[in-house]
Amino acid sequence: MGASAVVLCLVLQLMQEVKASVGNCIPRKTVKYQTLNVEMFVKEGLSNVSALLVDEETDRLFVGGRDVISALDLNNISRETAREHWFATQERQLECIRRGKDKIRCQNYILVLHKINDSHVYVCGTNAYHPLCDHMVIQRTKMHLQGRAEESRGKCPFEPTLKYASVFVDGAFYSATSNNFLGTEPIILRSMQNPVRTEFKTSWLKCFVGMEIVPESEFSPDGDDDKIYVFFTETAVEFEFYDKILVSRIARICKGDLGGKRLLQRRWTSFLKARLSCSVPELNFHFNIIQDIFFLRRRKWQDSIFYGIFSQQWGRLDTSAVCAYSMASIREAFSKGSYRGPITVEHSHVRWMVFRGEVPVPRPGACIDNFARNLGYNTSSDLPDKVLQFARDHPLMDGSVNPIGERPALLKRSSNYTRIVVDRVTGLDKQTYDVMFLGTDDGYLHKAFNCDGEMFIVEELQLFLSPEPVQFLQLSAKKGMLYVGALSAVVQLPVSGCQRYKHCLDCILARDPYCAWSQAAQACVLLSDQSADTKNLIQNVKYGDASSCLSVGIEIGILLNVEFHVKYLFTLGNNVHLKCVPLSNLARVVWKFNGSRIRDEDSKYLLYDGGIAIFNATAAETGFYDCLSVEKSKAKEFFITVARYALYAQQNATKQKSVGSQKENLVLKLLCAGFALLFFFLFIWNFYKGHISLPWRIRETSSKDTNADLENPELTTERSEAVRESSAVQADMS
Ligand SMILES: *[C@@H]1O[C@H](CO)[C@@H](O)[C@H](O)[C@H]1NC(C)=O
Ligand SMILES: *[C@@H]1O[C@H](CO)[C@@H](O)[C@H](O)[C@H]1NC(C)=O
Ligand SMILES: *[C@@H]1O[C@H](CO)[C@@H](O)[C@H](O)[C@H]1NC(C)=O
Ligand SMILES: *[C@@H]1O[C@H](CO)[C@@H](O)[C@H](O)[C@H]1NC(C)=O
Ligand SMILES: *[C@@H]1O[C@H](CO)[C@@H](O)[C@H](O)[C@H]1NC(C)=O
Ligand SMILES: *[C@@H]1O[C@H](CO)[C@@H](O)[C@H](O)[C@H]1NC(C)=O
Ligand SMILES: *[C@@H]1O[C@H](CO)[C@@H](O)[C@H](O)[C@H]1NC(C)=O
Ligand SMILES: *[C@@H]1O[C@H](CO)[C@@H](O)[C@H](O)[C@H]1NC(C)=O
Repeated sequence: MGASAVVLCLVLQLMQEVKASVGNCIPRKTVKYQTLNVEMFVKEGLSNVSALLVDEETDRLFVGGRDVISALDLNNISRETAREHWFATQERQLECIRRGKDKIRCQNYILVLHKINDSHVYVCGTNAYHPLCDHMVIQRTKMHLQGRAEESRGKCPFEPTLKYASVFVDGAFYSATSNNFLGTEPIILRSMQNPVRTEFKTSWLKCFVGMEIVPESEFSPDGDDDKIYVFFTETAVEFEFYDKILVSRIARICKGDLGGKRLLQRRWTSFLKARLSCSVPELNFHFNIIQDIFFLRRRKWQDSIFYGIFSQQWGRLDTSAVCAYSMASIREAFSKGSYRGPITVEHSHVRWMVFRGEVPVPRPGACIDNFARNLGYNTSSDLPDKVLQFARDHPLMDGSVNPIGERPALLKRSSNYTRIVVDRVTGLDKQTYDVMFLGTDDGYLHKAFNCDGEMFIVEELQLFLSPEPVQFLQLSAKKGMLYVGALSAVVQLPVSGCQRYKHCLDCILARDPYCAWSQAAQACVLLSDQSADTKNLIQNVKYGDASSCLSVGIEIGILLNVEFHVKYLFTLGNNVHLKCVPLSNLARVVWKFNGSRIRDEDSKYLLYDGGIAIFNATAAETGFYDCLSVEKSKAKEFFITVARYALYAQQNATKQKSVGSQKENLVLKLLCAGFALLFFFLFIWNFYKGHISLPWRIRETSSKDTNADLENPELTTERSEAVRESSAVQADMS
């Protein structure tokens, strides 16, 4: 890992100079599945997980799958509290197969789960390409469908793998999905109350990724209405290009929209859409395909933020971007600015032109507010025809919605993000940090934040053994838990694993806003678990400045000197391998021999990933070898000793290792016992077979084995045990 790689979590201003390395933000730590296992619960054996619903009031996690809905305990998803099956009838399945779909898809995939109240959940399934919705009644340990399923075209996709979005607001169901068997007719629909829908236009809406209600009527001085925002990707109409270019869109409708009276009957009168821009302007990177959206809801809706994941249509296909949008910029795009509409130019060629004429009053597409009411328009059906006509013909805003800071909050190369949730955390410095959790298409979860323009990925966690895409991601901020769904399993894990950081330095350099080092407990602890007394806590999210970890009097930058070395005996003339791994992906390793630094150029040594090799070791190589992990944070460079070895030469190959560690002794004893047992069985077996062989043969083999161990770098279990011990000693000292 070169020094350049360490710097790559770069401040965006530097981007132009370091164009080649753009987005190469490296997660500080990588936690593999095996290590993470201890602090996560997995519910396996679910088939085709297709919906997740977190219910914090009743402590349940509802999981929709193929032909089944499960209710799991939100505190421990390994426990299933109830289950209900919902199959497509035989006739439906046969009909579906007859229409050319394969058998596995002609089942009932539960795609929609919405909570109505504590005892009712609204459920929709594909039902073998014949979508149905029903109410499910929830009891303590039981749940059952009411059996009043109704046909639900436009509420739930026909296709189990199609992207869709829906929200449940005040008894009305808003859905954005496809309205037909072939999936070619996209629709944004309100049902169950005052049904209103979009007009069908040739494939202008595709790939819905999210839908959210924003309560904009709250304390509105203009008597404004609540709005429903929809996010999707579609083929651009506003650019003239040879190739079909895609754009991300944000569309919105008013909750109070009842459609028009003569024009736009049962059609949205308030449907407007705008381009959602996510790009790095100076690099000409345009992230035009939206993958997922998360609404970071705040008490005041004006403070809420939309976070979106984007990818590119061309160019850097392996790069993902996260862009954040403020409510102010979204409102601005819709409530001000020009409209675009289709104009037929020569040869029936249609171009979407900016409308330069006079816009009718009240503003087309605006919700009914005090201004409209004063003009006598109490509902959308009172609006004059010229306003409705204009709204119908000019659904596209000319201006785009631009991200906060006019650039992505995160850029990441060689990761394809699929899902995002964001948690706002208050650090010890009383600052708030928006921590992004990002699921990847190969089963990892990234935890990242953007601090004053600097992108930082705290860690990446491997959630699934096989590299399957993260398809669902839900956060319970109240419980501090994340729930992640892939095709065949759901995983529950805490928002932070502070206890994984064993050293003070590691804890602070992690810059995890959830974690702080407790000097009292000498451990990295969850900040939210701590009482109001934060005097003995250390945290530095902004700069990763771990200076406070260093004891007084010690030269800044060097942690401490522990008089504990792992003793290592070697035979003269042999090669010696000493193991050492840096503390994080952002750290590099420096080796010291008797206190002075070993240079890369020295042909005596080979510094490799994971350790050092000393060739043809002679008596001159005896002495102390220290391995230091060197990590540069925004503040300064920090050194931490992660392994220490004392090398002794021995002329005598048969001599046993004289190692002080009790653990090593134990291992050796066990080894001896093992050989004794083996010998015993061999003896019995030979005796039984009737040809007792000479015992010295066996002894010779065993002694040779032990010999090999002495020089063998692979026999590292005991050694790394000792290293861990030495680390623990250092942690205590710090
Ligand atoms: C359901 O899961 C099976 C195997 O787990 C897979 O083969 C199948 O394609 C999945 N169905 C859909 C619609 O993705
Ligand atoms: C979660 O539940 C499973 C099964 O009931 C149990 O084995 C496990 O110990 C529980 N985990 C915790 C942390 O309670
Ligand atoms: C919950 O909603 C259902 C369906 O709308 C309704 O029948 C039921 O009375 C409601 N229950 C409560 C406790 O509000
Ligand atoms: C991300 O997606 C691109 C394009 O689909 C693909 O080529 C690449 O292999 C993917 N990368 C990972 C890490 O899955
Ligand atoms: C709108 O409401 C006001 C007050 O409620 C009423 O006076 C007026 O007639 C209504 N206008 C229409 C067009 O219904
Ligand atoms: C180590 O010693 C052997 C024989 O003594 C020699 O062939 C080899 O080149 C030496 N290796 C190094 C790296 O010095
Ligand atoms: C390194 O230190 C050890 C112990 O103090 C000493 O025996 C050895 O000679 C030193 N080696 C060198 C090359 O200075
Ligand atoms: C080798 O070990 C044997 C027994 O452990 C001992 O008698 C002998 O003196 C040793 N030789 C050297 C050169 O250390």
